[in-house]
Amino acid sequence: MRASVKASKHNVLDAIDKRIYGSFIEHLGRAVYEGIYEPGHPTANEEGFRQDVIEAINELNVPLVRYPGGNFVSGYNWEDGIGPKEDRPKRLDLAWKSVETNEVGLHEFMDWTELAKTEVNMAVNLGTRGVDAAKNIVEYCNHPGGTYWSDLRKENGRDEPYSIKTWCLGNEMDGPWQIGAKTADEYGRLATETAKAMKWVDDSIELVLCGSSGSKMPTFGEWEFTVLEHAYDYVDFLSLHLYWENFENDLSNYLAKSREMDHFIKDVVSICDAVKAKKGSGKKINLSFDEWNVWYHSKDADAKREPWDIAPPLLEDIYNFEDALLVGLGIITLLNNADRVKIACLAQLVNVIAPIMTVKDGEVWKQPTFYPFMQASNFGRGKVLTVQSESPTYDSKEFKDVPFVESTVIWNEDEQEIVIFAVNRSEKDAMPLDIKLDDFEGLSLIEATELADYDPKLTTEENHDAMAIKNNDSFKVEEAAVSGEIKPLSWNMVRLS
Ligand code: AHR
Repeated sequence: MRASVKASKHNVLDAIDKRIYGSFIEHLGRAVYEGIYEPGHPTANEEGFRQDVIEAINELNVPLVRYPGGNFVSGYNWEDGIGPKEDRPKRLDLAWKSVETNEVGLHEFMDWTELAKTEVNMAVNLGTRGVDAAKNIVEYCNHPGGTYWSDLRKENGRDEPYSIKTWCLGNEMDGPWQIGAKTADEYGRLATETAKAMKWVDDSIELVLCGSSGSKMPTFGEWEFTVLEHAYDYVDFLSLHLYWENFENDLSNYLAKSREMDHFIKDVVSICDAVKAKKGSGKKINLSFDEWNVWYHSKDADAKREPWDIAPPLLEDIYNFEDALLVGLGIITLLNNADRVKIACLAQLVNVIAPIMTVKDGEVWKQPTFYPFMQASNFGRGKVLTVQSESPTYDSKEFKDVPFVESTVIWNEDEQEIVIFAVNRSEKDAMPLDIKLDDFEGLSLIEATELADYDPKLTTEENHDAMAIKNNDSFKVEEAAVSGEIKPLSWNMVRLS
């Protein structure tokens, strides 16, 4: 059994929008409080932001962070989070049955984004609120001055506009669990009018329209078509959300679930283009996969929690090695659809279904999913090449013809570097991998690395150093041909110059 991947410098799928390596911080559980923000922690700065968490985030090199929700945003008054902290109201958060203190609000979060070297992808509340609150927050954040909201921003300590570029028009508005959930027609109309007003305040912003909250929603497809028919001319992206589970403990089927992501993307692209054709529009709608991850380990524990705590430990999935492999497969899938997926947010970033965990008054530690994301975000920049790949395949419970080896090839012209990411799904067979690169001359190997040799159920909860990226010494370069062997159940990166 061998796998191969062939690519040419002149056959480019598309440039990677760096926002594909986005993530997400919601006012949920311990993501904000006890996560990024913990005044009194030994590493906290004057504002209360933990520097050790910032350092871990900087390692991930996350260019965009969606905020403040998620389900939370559908009941949120953004004005609760501005002005003196002592005047801010405590509110019931109906989404997560918690109490929100509003200690961290818009200014604090924007300060934090500077430390985290990232930009915000700001969501507005289209659950309990609408056009007025949404146009006002754009004016508050992006208008230079001389108006009520922009001058209030100045009074609150920020002279320059924040110039936030990427905005979400609500969150999962099709979901019955959403505060103020809507039918597709209700949401489509509201999103259209909100988008118009937001862009009238600042026409440089980009807007994400809510697609279905999952491809298994009963209204999937019809929802996309309807909301796009309403809002097509006023929005730039349509959103997709997907969370993977392995309740059945079926590894071969679990690792095949990234195929679902690929099908989902292609289905949504078809709908976007069908609406484009129907409207005779010259405009292309791209995709924002603004929530994706594994989420299931914590569901039973969360169902038993009593309501109305401040920052309760919710959605604290403890990830294992097999989850890291599936996250790696998710990244490869997003990259191989980089012609249409321009934004993607790993949900989420700290403590809540997150690659980074914190202990109150204590340490920060990295989950297994940290590693593939870190390598991809740091080295997967440039252009994705269209690849011809061959791999032996298998059938799992839900999926047919699943390739054991899944890969992507990136050409980073600025760094004069070719980067290959590959996952071997096989549980027992190492796979020889031949990489054939046309139109590149004098190739040499920078490094070949792997995350491999671990029990699929291994976590880093007890021993935070239980997992690490190691060198793979099997890779050799001869002319334009590169070959090596990738281990069973492995995430791999090969860098060439
Ligand atoms: O990321 C956790 C939650 O998952 C988000 O709040 C919601 O949008 C989705 O259902």
